[in-house]
Amino acid sequence: MENDTTGTLFLPPQSSTISGDVDALFNFVLYASIVFFLLVVLLSLFFVLRYRRRGQLTLSTGPSHNTKLEIVWTLIPLVLVFIVFFWGFKTFLKMHIVPQDAIDIKVTAQKWFWTFDYTKAGVNSLNELVVPVDQPVQLTMSSTDVIHSFYVPGFRVKMDVLPNRYSVTWFQANHTGEFDLFCAEYCGTSHSDMIGKVRVLNEREYNEWLEQQSMGGDDMPLPELGAKLFSSKACITCHTVDGIPKVGPSFKGRFGSKQPMDDGQQVLIDENFVRESILSPMAHVAQGFQPVMPSYQGLLKEREIDALIEYMKSLQEE
Ligand code: CUA
Repeated sequence: MENDTTGTLFLPPQSSTISGDVDALFNFVLYASIVFFLLVVLLSLFFVLRYRRRGQLTLSTGPSHNTKLEIVWTLIPLVLVFIVFFWGFKTFLKMHIVPQDAIDIKVTAQKWFWTFDYTKAGVNSLNELVVPVDQPVQLTMSSTDVIHSFYVPGFRVKMDVLPNRYSVTWFQANHTGEFDLFCAEYCGTSHSDMIGKVRVLNEREYNEWLEQQSMGGDDMPLPELGAKLFSSKACITCHTVDGIPKVGPSFKGRFGSKQPMDDGQQVLIDENFVRESILSPMAHVAQGFQPVMPSYQGLLKEREIDALIEYMKSLQEE
């Protein structure tokens, strides 16, 4: 990124077309607040010292009002809030009216990962939103469970993602690079791990990426592909490969063993079990764990399920 100079104490460098507007208004409110804070505090201090008790008091009744002063302290704040309102409203409209030619991407939030469906190209990705630079992108978002919030600080874009309805937002990235994506609404145990990336590519790289996505790692050995999917499909949010359980059991040493389920049944962890766990996780829930695993139905290709199984097999205790 060439212009890193636009980052501030509060926010990372401006990387979308609206970030300048958002920051300008934010700074206006910030500096106006600082000016009035200083004005009030310094004047108070001055009056406290200037009019402190000195010797015997002679009290007068004092003025009951001062019309000029009252008009001034009404008009100045009035003007200020009008500036903030109209400026804010203008920017709000800009942020909410999606350009006609925007690329449409469907966003699904669930505990605890993001799915991005490229409706036109027919591909999807998890926790990684890939977009072309200098083109408007429309996000139509919904949640399958609780309220999440889609937040990309670099783009100054934040929008709640709700169950049972769609919320829409858009942005246009104005330089290439990688940007943080956070969930900004507490949504349960792994809320803080519900982290993704937005990768902004140039047009050619973007089209290459779309093509690559539709092939789905066909040239890779299965365990290697599985290891890649383990993080790219967000298994890593809830599972580990080092034997220490997280939200879900660790993958290490689990394949081929017999494990107790929440109904007391002992189940052999074999290919069919892992497959079922991925596609219908509620069928058998491992004892000692919450039934919070989302279904990956429609999110993984057959070969990708095979790859995850092979990867799990490769993780045996030494
Ligand atoms: Cu999803 Cu917090």
